[in-house]
Amino acid sequence: MNIECDVLIVGTGIAGLYTALNLREDLKIILVSKSKLTDTNTYLAQGGIATAKNVDDIPFFIEDTLRAGNYKNKIEAVNVLATESIDNINKLLQLGVEFDRSCGVLLYTKEGAHSTNRIVHHKDYTGKAVADSLINKIKKKKNINVFEETVLVDLIASDNKCIGGIFTKENKQINIFSKETVLATGGIGGLFKNSTNQRTLTGDGLAVAIKNGVRVKDLGYIQFHPTALYDNKDDRRFLISESLRGEGAILLNSKGERFVDELLPRDEVSAKIYDEIKKTNVPHVYLSVAHLNDSYVKNRFPKIYSECLKRGIDITKDYIPVAPAQHYFMGGIDVDLNSKTSMKNLYAVGEVACTGVHGDNRLASNSLLEGLVFSKRAAESINKEINSIEINIFNPKIIYDFEKAKRENINIIVEEIKKKRWDLKDELIYY
Ligand code: SIN
Repeated sequence: MNIECDVLIVGTGIAGLYTALNLREDLKIILVSKSKLTDTNTYLAQGGIATAKNVDDIPFFIEDTLRAGNYKNKIEAVNVLATESIDNINKLLQLGVEFDRSCGVLLYTKEGAHSTNRIVHHKDYTGKAVADSLINKIKKKKNINVFEETVLVDLIASDNKCIGGIFTKENKQINIFSKETVLATGGIGGLFKNSTNQRTLTGDGLAVAIKNGVRVKDLGYIQFHPTALYDNKDDRRFLISESLRGEGAILLNSKGERFVDELLPRDEVSAKIYDEIKKTNVPHVYLSVAHLNDSYVKNRFPKIYSECLKRGIDITKDYIPVAPAQHYFMGGIDVDLNSKTSMKNLYAVGEVACTGVHGDNRLASNSLLEGLVFSKRAAESINKEINSIEINIFNPKIIYDFEKAKRENINIIVEEIKKKRWDLKDELIYY
């Protein structure tokens, strides 16, 4: 089947949804999800969205982002991220997102390596609150067509110019031709045994980019979140948000002793936890909020409270067993400040893109913000340029075995990770 549109967006996390909402309404847009619209890492995001609180906070936010990223960040991208944060949070408020407030004033929480409280949030399910608002808006747009359960297997490209994607749905091939294509396919956590990510996230966008010679970057920069629930019954590791530590949670070893400053950058806290695990031979440490007020904990962290209770842990009384788990991919498809890749008419936004803002260790709650800031820039660039684009439609290759094609894409990423991070080979599901 062949379909045509102006803009093809692959992926329905915050970056894909927000790109669609910032595009011109006269453009015919197709938005594709590999599974359901809501099966995204955005939907799982707990802590919140970091933002400069005001103009005076911008230099401090920049410095915190650089320090957490071990100064391996791209400084121009960090400047853009911090400077455009306030406008994008305001735009979310206009789109109907409700962040927590006290007496009408926005509440900001803190997480590791932030020098001040600057994270807007909706209890402990910020990602769901944001995604639900954006999805409501998308559903009202007549120019946006959503395809679910539709898997990207390749790009349609020639002479380093992208004219769409090849997908499979119900074991049939769908070719979607587009003037501009935006990859917003998310991260690679689905390839790891222990990850907080959705299982479906296996790096499809990154794989098709590599296959087609699109420039990629920093593929060894993989972040482990310090506090995923240690529960060997779960397929995906349930996250215990860093915002608990921001609100006073403490980390304890198996003897009940504190061993680390809980608000250090993520890579440092994870390293200390691994040391403790090695020293004690116990496969986890503990996080505790038992010293905080019970009703505050239940009201501020309802999702974590109820998910832990389902597993027999009452967080108002019990220690929570936690251990690090793969959480975020800082590398990806190399993009410029407008999210353009090295292939003509191909953009990448969100976790699949490498804007360089995170260096080798993302500052907490900067991922949703990056998704907002750089997808808006992509949409603005497309809005300006699309009228001058013409495409020559040709018959793309025919894929005879979709399972084989999907597996080949997984292998591409696995091989790249093994090349860059041999130390993580045992963490991979496929090798
Ligand atoms: C968390 O809530 O701990 C995750 C936030 C993030 O990954 O930035």
